[in-house]
Amino acid sequence: VKRWDTRPDSFAWVDDSIRRLRRAGLHRELPEPLPEPLPERELIDLSGNDYAHLARHPLVVQAVMDAATEFGAGATGARLVSGDRPVHRRLESELATFTGVAAALVFSSAYLANLGIVTAMCRPGSLVVLDAHAHASLLDGCKLAGADIALSDHGSVSSVAKILADSPHPRILVITESVFSVDGDLAPLEDLYQECRKRGAGLLVDDAHGLGVLGDGGRGALHATGLAGAPDVVATSSLGKSLGSQGGVLLGPDRVIRHAVGSSRSFLFNTALAPTSAAAALASVRVLTREPERAEQARAVAQALAQTLATQGLPVSSPAAAVFSVRAPSASSAVAWARKCRSDGVLVGCFRPPSVPDGHSRLRLGVHPALDTKQRARAADVITRHSPWQDALRPPL
Ligand SMILES: Cc1ncc(COP(=O)(O)O)c(C=O)c1O
Repeated sequence: VKRWDTRPDSFAWVDDSIRRLRRAGLHRELPEPLPEPLPERELIDLSGNDYAHLARHPLVVQAVMDAATEFGAGATGARLVSGDRPVHRRLESELATFTGVAAALVFSSAYLANLGIVTAMCRPGSLVVLDAHAHASLLDGCKLAGADIALSDHGSVSSVAKILADSPHPRILVITESVFSVDGDLAPLEDLYQECRKRGAGLLVDDAHGLGVLGDGGRGALHATGLAGAPDVVATSSLGKSLGSQGGVLLGPDRVIRHAVGSSRSFLFNTALAPTSAAAALASVRVLTREPERAEQARAVAQALAQTLATQGLPVSSPAAAVFSVRAPSASSAVAWARKCRSDGVLVGCFRPPSVPDGHSRLRLGVHPALDTKQRARAADVITRHSPWQDALRPPL
């Protein structure tokens, strides 16, 4: 065994950092892995983003197996080098048709799709107007692009309008999520678009939590708001949420997609999306097309569960799609609340700084259409029973 010289200890600060985070209730650790296969009847999973209940759909799983046989385990190279496969092209074409846009480009994740499109569309001297609650990947993209960043008040069209009116920048991109990932509220997309038009700004919509849930048959936020096909709107989405797979996608006008192919470094310098993931997402799009009722059912389940929790006096956000949150009094009480729910068979997400936009920790609940009334009642009972608000002062709803 090799003996290392540990003086000086270059990474001693890491232990201090972990200790500090632990004291503040903000340390993160991987939880115990879930049992496989998930005992769905005993365990109610509200912690994931499988909003259309497709991750284990037989046709989706079969598509993965067929793709592995046909294409192997990985793409073996970047799309522009050796990793391009027919399944990528089929997925892009069907996703574009499904969402009503001209073209699509798939990435290895939505995180990378966001980095890729923001850096392709903005540069030093550009302005990005970013909603204050926007996802970390969008902010990271803005920083990487070296653009000037203006944070607009959350969900506020007038805040965006004021920034646009005051800006001398020649190139502007307004960026928002469609359904915000933490509270599940909806951005005022049509009004934002009108403001963008007045100023000649582009609009980028992250539809990670809208695709598969919002609009007619889950065709996503652009389709739902009549913005699909607009020449100055682009969207990104995740293949790892409603589509039950892994990966990301850029959706929009043909010229923007062609530009992204050559200018998005997270596309250029990255092994192509695994063909198995592409095949799974493709199978999911086809299921959604055949079963458009899944989207509406997911929305209805979210509203019913949020309503039940609100009647119990919990501070619940109001879901526009299939995800919503319940505020906790503090980061450490949120962690304890989630842990108690888990030990009673209900898995919930636990969001603390820096994953929350406003410093307030929350439980985050994502639902899907197959959650029946009995499971919803049990989940609501467990969440309410373990609520830390029972002994604390409840905030106004
Ligand atoms: C709004 C939003 N955008 C992007 C992402 C990144 O998605 P992916 O997991 O596909 O990288 C997420 C997921 O956390 C998200 O919530």
